[in-house]
Amino acid sequence: MSDRYYITTPIYYVNDMPHIGHIYTTVMADIFARYHRLRGAEVRFLTGTDEHGQKIEKAALDQGIEPIELADRVVARYHGLWKTLGISHDDFIRTSEDRHKRAVETIIRRITANGDIYKGDYEGWYLAADEAFIPDSQVKDGHDIESGRPVERLSESSYFFRLSAYQDRLLEWYRANPECIRPRTRYNEVVSFVEGGLRDLSISRTSLTWGVPYPDDDEHLVYVWLDALTNYISALGFGSDDESLYDRHWPASMHLVGKDILRFHCVYWPAFLMSAGLPLPKAIVGHGWWLRDEAKMSKSVGNVVRPDALIERFGPDALRYFVAREMAFGQDATFSDEAFLERFNADLANALGNTASRTLSMTGRYLDGRVPAPSGDGPVPAAAQSAVEGYREHMENGKPHRALESAWQLLKAIDGYIQEQQPWARAKDGDAGMALVESTLYVSLEGLRIISLMIEPFMPTIAMQLRRQLGIEDAPRNLDAAVEWGGLAEGTQIGKTEPLFPRVDIAAYLKEITMESPAADTEKPTEDDLLSIDQFFKTKLVVGTIREAEQVPKSKKLIRLMVDLGEPELRQLVAGIAERYQAEDLVGRQIVVVANLKPAKLMGVQSQGMLLAANVESAPFLLSPDAEVPPGTVVS
Ligand code: MSP
Repeated sequence: MSDRYYITTPIYYVNDMPHIGHIYTTVMADIFARYHRLRGAEVRFLTGTDEHGQKIEKAALDQGIEPIELADRVVARYHGLWKTLGISHDDFIRTSEDRHKRAVETIIRRITANGDIYKGDYEGWYLAADEAFIPDSQVKDGHDIESGRPVERLSESSYFFRLSAYQDRLLEWYRANPECIRPRTRYNEVVSFVEGGLRDLSISRTSLTWGVPYPDDDEHLVYVWLDALTNYISALGFGSDDESLYDRHWPASMHLVGKDILRFHCVYWPAFLMSAGLPLPKAIVGHGWWLRDEAKMSKSVGNVVRPDALIERFGPDALRYFVAREMAFGQDATFSDEAFLERFNADLANALGNTASRTLSMTGRYLDGRVPAPSGDGPVPAAAQSAVEGYREHMENGKPHRALESAWQLLKAIDGYIQEQQPWARAKDGDAGMALVESTLYVSLEGLRIISLMIEPFMPTIAMQLRRQLGIEDAPRNLDAAVEWGGLAEGTQIGKTEPLFPRVDIAAYLKEITMESPAADTEKPTEDDLLSIDQFFKTKLVVGTIREAEQVPKSKKLIRLMVDLGEPELRQLVAGIAERYQAEDLVGRQIVVVANLKPAKLMGVQSQGMLLAANVESAPFLLSPDAEVPPGTVVS
């Protein structure tokens, strides 16, 4: 087994705040990273953000801010969340960083030198939500058949990557490395997709302003997936003066991704790497999706609790445990409050928490808080050995949920042994009874020491608390130590016993959250979400007549308008409408303007208000009165 382990998460789009799906990918990657550290590997763990592309550009425009401002905001949220969740990444890459842009440029130059890039025209469909080019056969009535989401027609000059030339080489790679895509179902999907034939891929865009400049061509920006995938090597210094990290850690041991983005990782990425003459990742692992079972949720509480509320109330480790245990890794699962609470009580408060607190408090009561002489009595030592073996095997085979099952079998064995031996009764039986109390408690404490190692990747904070209570917080931590029975030294003074997970009253909690946050995540607006008429009238909507219009220099989307709102001076507005409207056609047209908005700068040009448009995906449709009215007429 290699003693280096480089693991990555996908880099997250910054058009939205993180949710349970993002948490899942990152927590699972963290669990694998921590597991491999625990077995003694030199681990490198990377996560980050994907900040370019049409989706982000539009989201920023909609909010009236620059894309980098939006990215900064969301990145701050990610940093906060990863800290709270105990994510132990070694690096956080942002695609807006120079080190990344340099690597993208380098890989494109290598691919170009290999003769795999040519210039042409792209005419076809684009699904901005996935930043993906969609073949005609997959589009019906302007919608992507698979996802049902609207697509837009692109017609622009583009650089193309000769993906078609890589079909055979990719198939050879898959066949020679049956473990390179996991689980097997995903491997089969990818192979049959590639067997179906590959078309060359457009790798640049001219109709955007936010992205990595294409090398030696100012008109083009690099297609966001080529840009994003390169993060896995840009964060290692690829293309910089110091490639030592790249030399040390590439190729990656595991790219962990959701199943929706497997194709980009299993087809495009290896083909780019082959063309650039770089080694391929060892494994790409696709996990399933978290679904929300609306019916089940609405039946009991009528709403959904956000992960933030769960973290705040139950601690980050409870959420980490739940997502790792509840989802059979690779398959889909449903996220529900009830399932979370049931697991919390049964697995954490009861099986783990109670077994620990019983053992520790009896050690305090009967043995003055000191670990007794080692013992190997009863079934627990053998149970510990098989639990650790099962645990390791499952972790190596990408089944972390089963690894937890193994650990919980050991907890069950400890608990069963305590029940059977009844140390609280034996303690009354004089010296002979006390000998039994000592051996029972040693076996249980030692079992808990092993448990503290097995849960460490999943619940690092709780694992540390347990170790503190066992009096071994400073002992070295590694998995090999777990298999050696008798690691807990006689005479060790245990720490203060505190419940690891206080049991929760499920009914009371569900009632409480329903009252606290009525319909927090449902579509239905509540009293609090509705505006009073006074609040609505705080927004000043007026009709304006466009007097001047011109495209903002260097921007493909923005038009600068001078609008007559019936005021002494014309108002300057900047609007992202150039994709559907020519500046010169707008003069004389009437629009609806939010007139009392704080001014904002877009591409350095000040906008003193905002016009209203219906947005169909990224295409704006301007709103106007159906007959001409005087400029400044109030809309109400
Ligand atoms: N930016 C791209 C990835 C580029 S990697 C070079 C992207 N970003 S994303 O923010 O949309 O998604 C990031 C990850 O979150 C993906 O692996 C995706 O599968 C995962 N999830 C998003 N929603 C999810 C669920 N509901 N359930 C589980 N994971 C899902 O794609």
